[in-house]
Amino acid sequence: MYKAIIRPVLFKIDPENVHELLFNGLKTYKHLSPVRAICRNNYCNTQKIHLRNMELANRIGLAAGFDKAAEVYDELADFGFGFIEIGTVTPHAQTGNPKPRIFRLVEDDSLISRTGFNNPGIDVIADRLKAHSERSYLLGANINRDPSSTGEQLISDFVYVFNTLYDLVDYFTINWGSIEPEDFKLVCERLESERATKSVPKNIFIKLPADIPTDVLDKVIDLAKANHINGFIATGPTMDRSLLTHLNKEESDKLGAGGVSGKGIGEKSRNIISYLAQHAGDEFILIGAGGIMTPKDAKAMIEAGADLIQIYSAFIYSGPGIVREMNNAIEKHIK
Ligand SMILES: Cc1cc2nc3c(=O)[nH]c(=O)nc-3n(C[C@H](O)[C@H](O)[C@H](O)COP(=O)(O)O)c2cc1C
Repeated sequence: MYKAIIRPVLFKIDPENVHELLFNGLKTYKHLSPVRAICRNNYCNTQKIHLRNMELANRIGLAAGFDKAAEVYDELADFGFGFIEIGTVTPHAQTGNPKPRIFRLVEDDSLISRTGFNNPGIDVIADRLKAHSERSYLLGANINRDPSSTGEQLISDFVYVFNTLYDLVDYFTINWGSIEPEDFKLVCERLESERATKSVPKNIFIKLPADIPTDVLDKVIDLAKANHINGFIATGPTMDRSLLTHLNKEESDKLGAGGVSGKGIGEKSRNIISYLAQHAGDEFILIGAGGIMTPKDAKAMIEAGADLIQIYSAFIYSGPGIVREMNNAIEKHIK
């Protein structure tokens, strides 16, 4: 139904306008309690997964960037996600890159995006998070600094966002590659020492870019061990467009800069999860993300060593039913 009827209509509209339509729809849906009950009943999948120090309703999560501003995460959870990551969140509001900045590559089941850090800033987001203290899913925050911050200000930005959201979310994610490696190391150290002052420890994950070379990955693993990082999300988008078989050079140049998400990155992210599973050690939680488009992909990511799965593009390309389908596929496989 989604692919045959709804998607062809939605895909005639600019991706960010569809996003806005969906979000406006979900803001209305929020007030329709009987409809919400039906939707939850249809989509929600509660299996009680116990993973190190985490309890989750299931293994499928929504990746960062979908609900950057924490507007409708609670409504999105009704589609059956076990965890949802909001953000990327920065201290101050950011407009991100000029539009258009998201492009669908339908024949490749992929997206090219260069949204930047567009978000309304930590104060607005913290207020929105206070609205839902009771949740049946885990909530994560992907955090970063203001793009203009450098040096000590950069570290303070991370610490400020971390502390402001500490009691409002269940875990944090920081993106390797979004700041210089020396700064990243300092951020890890500072967040670890901030966390040591809290009564309830919350997990911190490092999200890796799809293009990370193996020698760098080894260094990130060491850094993660030294700072009691709890796990990895692998991966974010790739800059490599060679896996997009339907996009020629001219079209690619015309689209301009941007990372590739979706089917085009599946192999890269699976390989990184597989490497982490073999080399990082059992203490880390591994969240496979990137190019998980089908239940078969989800199963392959679990087989590669992922404990959990995050999706973004699959939600756009296959609609909400994909969450349940992936859940069914991996739970059958794990049993
Ligand atoms: C339009 C768009 C915006 C994104 N924004 C963010 C973001 O703000 N922070 C982040 O860590 N990842 C962001 N991502 C990356 C996704 O979280 C995810 O890692 C990536 O899309 C790979 O997953 P997928 O192949 O399932 O889409 C974004 C992706 C897209 C397509």
